[in-house]
Amino acid sequence: MHYTSNFGCMEVRQAIADKLKRENNIDYKPGEVLVTVGLSEAVFAVLATILNRGDEILVPDPVWLNYMNVPNLLGAKPVTYSLKEENGFQMDLDEVRSKITPRTKAVVIVTPNNPTGGVLSERVLKELAEIAVANDLMVLSDEVYERLIYDGEKHVSIASLPGMKERTFTLNGMSKAYAMDGWRLGYVAAPEEYILAMNKFHQYNTTCAPNFVQLASAAALNEEGDEVNAMVREYKRRRDHAVKAINEIPGLSCQCPKGAFYIFINIKELGMKSAEAADYLLEEAKIALVPGDVFGPGGEGYLRMSFANSYENVVEGCERLAEAVKALRERKER
Ligand SMILES: Cc1ncc(COP(=O)(O)O)c(C=O)c1O
Repeated sequence: MHYTSNFGCMEVRQAIADKLKRENNIDYKPGEVLVTVGLSEAVFAVLATILNRGDEILVPDPVWLNYMNVPNLLGAKPVTYSLKEENGFQMDLDEVRSKITPRTKAVVIVTPNNPTGGVLSERVLKELAEIAVANDLMVLSDEVYERLIYDGEKHVSIASLPGMKERTFTLNGMSKAYAMDGWRLGYVAAPEEYILAMNKFHQYNTTCAPNFVQLASAAALNEEGDEVNAMVREYKRRRDHAVKAINEIPGLSCQCPKGAFYIFINIKELGMKSAEAADYLLEEAKIALVPGDVFGPGGEGYLRMSFANSYENVVEGCERLAEAVKALRERKER
């Protein structure tokens, strides 16, 4: 097993280009794909390539932390737009418009979203595409959860919309759909001039993704049968149980996530900070939920539950959650 091309071996770049055509309706050539060590590395490479000090980038709030923290590390400024529960965790495009300044370089979208489980609708994506073109913005589209989508929801890749391929970085990887997160394989697809520029960061950072992991990923992409769909049916079973159980707990509520494997639980009625509630549940009930505010200020008042665990553990976790919240409320009433 030896180094491959820094860009990734041709088998996997071709498999990724084929997948993006087949599933996402975007025409990328293998030369427009850069293979990285997990999507996290691709995100860093894109942001390091496009952002100068002082540049602004629009990021969702709440969101997977890297989109706030990597711009901060690079001396750029993440400017948040809200994904509100009362809005079904969709983007408010008037808010997005109001936050564009001459320094705005790009906008990040994550659909389905971590931590909200929200899926951006085609209507919102079309309008966002018009905003991006009108304001000459680049778009980072994180689609790592695209396959984990329920109830007939449709995933739309923004790069497939007219005029968007040339300004979009389509970000994806093997971690979620194929549950290969520890294998560390991600990719970014974009116009070739950006791929060449990003390769400089990638080359001096990791050289190339592991050879055998690239080959395994090509096999997964080319030879997938019903495995992912079967897993999605199982995730749905866990989700349906957890959503019902949580909404039966006095003091808690949640929307039914349309994608990904997270439930964003509203705990505002408990009158506690997210971090305090998470600590309490960890210590009292031995269940681990992530305090929502780590994903941005808009996540305060929420806890993120993952149902990427066995059905039995999801059932037991919900039972423990119900008991611990009941005990907490009783203690407060006394
Ligand atoms: C939205 C999002 N993007 C990217 C990643 C990271 O993916 P990878 O394991 O490929 O680095 C995650 C991981 O949780 C995620 O939630």
